[in-house]
Amino acid sequence: MRAGGGRPKAVTDTDARRFSPACERNRGPILAALKPRLREARRVLEIASGTGQHAAAFAPELPHLSWQPSDLRASHISIEAWRKSVKATNLLPVIELDLLQPQHRLNLEPVDAIFAANLLHISPPEACPALAEIAAEKLTPGGNLIVYGPFRYPGQTLTPSNQQFVNWLKAQHPRFDIRDKAELDQLMAAEGLTAVDDLTMPANNRLLIWQKPQTAEADIATLAVS
Ligand SMILES: C[S@@+](CC[C@H](N)C(=O)[O-])C[C@H]1O[C@@H](n2cnc3c(N)ncnc32)[C@H](O)[C@@H]1O
Repeated sequence: MRAGGGRPKAVTDTDARRFSPACERNRGPILAALKPRLREARRVLEIASGTGQHAAAFAPELPHLSWQPSDLRASHISIEAWRKSVKATNLLPVIELDLLQPQHRLNLEPVDAIFAANLLHISPPEACPALAEIAAEKLTPGGNLIVYGPFRYPGQTLTPSNQQFVNWLKAQHPRFDIRDKAELDQLMAAEGLTAVDDLTMPANNRLLIWQKPQTAEADIATLAVS
């Protein structure tokens, strides 16, 4: 959601759906990458659902699983409006989840995958370890944390468009920034999550995937460090 603005063609006069042109552009490539990776998943938690467009686009295409959108309260009206517009029974009502509020995690059910798009650069750095903690706590063994957005890589300068984006982010808040993939790998590893995929996506974005080990692997890892 790098640029806001615009609205979908309204279905009612009181249509509360917010519209992100970036979501319209990236939902196809993201869905194509998610489909094979969510074949075995039954429950997905989306963090930072934003307008609700991704949830509304993905849930009907993944009817074998339930899709749980979440975000800060301010986004709920739009997410619910998108949910009602698609009438997919596997798209659950939005729940409140602020990554930085530990009490919001208490009632979260275990899930087989967590998806978060365009979140980590537009929240303070503490959101990164918080996301790792939630994934470690709530993913079922073998479950995937799937994160979409732009990232930094050691030894590589940002593309001009991503550098421009950083300038814009920092004007919004000095602690917003495109996050470093290697630093994220370390945070995830500290929570027992392994980097398993890093896919090139359109417009200089990536789809990063970390996996929680299967139980036996987790037991071996715990034994190895004890
Ligand atoms: C740029 S939008 C991305 C929305 C959507 N995922 C997308 O790709 O279009 C960033 C979203 O992150 C959410 N957000 C910001 N800080 C958050 C936090 N601490 N916990 C959960 N969500 C947060 C915002 O409410 C907003 O919906």
